Amino acid sequence: MNISKTLITKIQIAERVSELAKQINADYKGQELCVIGILNGSFIFLADLIRELKVDVRVEFMGISSYQDGTESSGKLLITKDLNLNLNMADVLIIEDIVDSGVTAARLVEMLKSRNPRSIKVCSLLNKQSRRVNDFAADYIGFEIENEFVVGYGLDCAGKFRQLKDIGVIEIN
Ligand code: IMP
Ligand code: MG
Repeated sequence: MNISKTLITKIQIAERVSELAKQINADYKGQELCVIGILNGSFIFLADLIRELKVDVRVEFMGISSYQDGTESSGKLLITKDLNLNLNMADVLIIEDIVDSGVTAARLVEMLKSRNPRSIKVCSLLNKQSRRVNDFAADYIGFEIENEFVVGYGLDCAGKFRQLKDIGVIEIN
């Protein structure tokens, strides 16, 4: 596995993270935000984003995986690590690395809504709109990308490449 090209540089990422934070600061002014990072891919993005937030934040992490049933998703979400926080009346911002088919994010939002938050929004660093199988739309998106497999800045391919500073396209051969 090799990186065939750099898609988004660390400088472009930093600029966009700042812009997203500005938007979030304005939208949640005076509120306390419960930021939930979805493991493992979101951890670097979350770390950079929250350090630009001026609103009060609590930070929690959640581990999830979608059950695969052959090639079809079975409709269930497996929680591998749950929150240590009650979401009742909380303003929740879910942090994702990438929304691809949209299946994971849509199920996650549906599941967390049942915990009675006051509001729930999703912020994803990357979005592959062309791969969507449902009508899920993230509230904040860093970059729209083509249908290519990307790694770096937290995103992995078979567990590797998360530590890269830039986001690159992987060539699998
Ligand atoms: P979805 O349910 O298809 O939207 O899956 C989203 C998840 O698939 C992300 O949280 C990633 O873990 C993974 N994923 C999708 N596309 C990529 C990619 O290009 N690079 C790395 N992980 C990806
Ligand atoms: Mg993920």
